[in-house]
Amino acid sequence: MPPAPPPPDEPAPAPTRGFDPDATPGGDVLAGVAKRFRILADTEFHGDSPAYERIARRLAEDPGPVADLVGVTAERFLPVLTLAAVHELALREPRGALARAYADGTDPWPAFHDVLTTRLPEIRATMATRRIQTNEVGRAAVLLPTCHLLEQRHRRPLALVEIGASAGLNLYFDEFAYHYRGGNADPETVLGDPDSPVQLHCELVGDGHPPLPPPGVLPTVVARDGIDLHPVDVTDPAARRWLRACLWPGLPERAERLDGALALALADPPTLFAGNALDLLAGVLAALPESALAVVSSTWVLAYFDPDERARFWELLQGCGRARDLAVVTGEFPTVVPWVPAAPSPPSMEGRGASLVGLATWSDGACTTEALAWVHPHGRWLEWFG
Ligand SMILES: C[S@@+](CC[C@H](N)C(=O)[O-])C[C@H]1O[C@@H](n2cnc3c(N)ncnc32)[C@H](O)[C@@H]1O
Repeated sequence: MPPAPPPPDEPAPAPTRGFDPDATPGGDVLAGVAKRFRILADTEFHGDSPAYERIARRLAEDPGPVADLVGVTAERFLPVLTLAAVHELALREPRGALARAYADGTDPWPAFHDVLTTRLPEIRATMATRRIQTNEVGRAAVLLPTCHLLEQRHRRPLALVEIGASAGLNLYFDEFAYHYRGGNADPETVLGDPDSPVQLHCELVGDGHPPLPPPGVLPTVVARDGIDLHPVDVTDPAARRWLRACLWPGLPERAERLDGALALALADPPTLFAGNALDLLAGVLAALPESALAVVSSTWVLAYFDPDERARFWELLQGCGRARDLAVVTGEFPTVVPWVPAAPSPPSMEGRGASLVGLATWSDGACTTEALAWVHPHGRWLEWFG
């Protein structure tokens, strides 16, 4: 089994490597923070973000520079929230030494350390008011084949409800361009809208073939709603900058696809309901057109729930599935979706960063659960086996 989450990223027990949302490193808080930085460096950042890997290793060796941030947020969120708060300052000051180091790929530690130690009050203020709400549209690489599969099976249009939607950018998955490479897309298949401002690139690995729609064909989506504890308002420039700050620096392709998705959302802002998905989901589902298949999606959200909330979420889904036909697509850390059946090992090279794609469906009240794929946390690759 693999690991890797979006919120506060963390480690996982054997046999999984990487993030485990429920893990508690133990020891005093600062030692725990140092340990979390080390795990991030070894798992999430290694091979994906050289800048953050360097910074995280320095703070794992000596967490002293973040000591004054302890208590501003929960321990498990502190490392990633600190990185994002400092990144936000770099975005506000693009000519500063840190922004230049991030852009040039030079060692960011001296400039990062300087910002961290000299701008602590601003960093604290950001961390006290913001949360990690990374809205990664690369994850739509999972939604396209899964929603195509659902439309094929159920022969009905889809009504999409995303829980933990952040800014709701993945609700526009049927307006993106998808460049799948390898597997049954060899050498390269371009699906969706080739002229979309969002160009996603995903490598298909392993022997399985995801159910890709033919070129020019996309799932028919008749409703799209999001629910988030704190929906991100795409019309607010400061909120847009924070979304950017939640991405890792030095990865222009992530920033480009975020900008493209924000352009789509600004042209037609999504419907986002503010509140806890546990409280709102049943009502939102009940308001969807009866003729459509209701599809709930959850990507990198359930790691933020505590185990009791996850159990309540599953009970809630059972009740909703008795009330109407329903499909629930999850792209999550495997231990937070215990209803998804055990899956084969993820691709050995990249296993440490994989999320599990699961599908639960209710037809006439009967529930079926499936494991469909492993996916890179940002949709860089997909191993379909379902
Ligand atoms: C890491 S973001 C993921 C955003 C999006 N799903 C994606 O994959 O790009 C997690 C989001 O879940 C939201 N969230 C966490 N717990 C929630 C809850 N109980 N109900 C609704 N939203 C929640 C957070 O506010 C945050 O915006």
